Amino acid sequence: MNKILIETVNLKKIYQHFNGNITLFKNLNLKIKQGDLVALVGPSGSGKSSLLHLLALLDEPTRGDIKINNIFTKKFTDEKKDETRRKNISIIFQDNNLLNDFTAIENVMMPLIIKGENVVKAEKEAQKILKKMKILDRSQHFPNQLSGGEQQRVAIARALIAETSLILADEPTGNLDFNTSKEIFSYFLKLKKLKKTIIFATHNRELANRADYKLFISNGDIKRVNAR
Ligand SMILES: Nc1ncnc2c1ncn2[C@@H]1O[C@H](COP(=O)(O)OP(=O)(O)O)[C@@H](O)[C@H]1O
Ligand SMILES: [Mg+2]
Repeated sequence: MNKILIETVNLKKIYQHFNGNITLFKNLNLKIKQGDLVALVGPSGSGKSSLLHLLALLDEPTRGDIKINNIFTKKFTDEKKDETRRKNISIIFQDNNLLNDFTAIENVMMPLIIKGENVVKAEKEAQKILKKMKILDRSQHFPNQLSGGEQQRVAIARALIAETSLILADEPTGNLDFNTSKEIFSYFLKLKKLKKTIIFATHNRELANRADYKLFISNGDIKRVNAR
């Protein structure tokens, strides 16, 4: 039985806005285990991105808490949150993923450099993973010299190289053609075998159906739906 990696405890999120409040989650209690491959689905505006931001400790819950490795995180300082993220979480956002002043390969090397890895070794690792993502020939390009799909693949490579226990991905295959999406997904399956937890928001039904289960968000609640 795998242990629980991340958990939401009575999580509530309301956005205050002058046009009226938006209640995204009323009282969310999720338990996500090590090695789970989870598809986050739901209509546009249902709160998928918001939930991923909360799980990444990038946003404050209105009420409730998030536990990572069985530790409550609400009272963490910003430094502690940064550290927790660096050690445990890789994030692939919908956009604005890459550092614009660095080349594709430098972006991918970044998590290893931050960890204090030797530059030559980091570069070799980055090359390997860029090759798997079929984007090695764009290593020396800066983000603004890459297409949306290419940027996305570089961002995925950067998330994967860090080898964190949790990978949060917001529509990671949104800019990609179906074959490339399937390849990215097969990479997720490999990570699952390594006991990594992957939570990815998607509108792609076929990929969602291949996850261990789906979390369907609507009207402030989440339903767990078995994909298979
Ligand atoms: N900072 C914010 N302030 C107010 N409302 C927001 C904010 N961020 C998102 N929202 C609203 O919350 C809802 C959920 O957004 P989001 O999580 O991006 O949905 P999804 O990713 O499922 O499309 C949307 O209706 C959006 O307009
Ligand atoms: Mg979104």
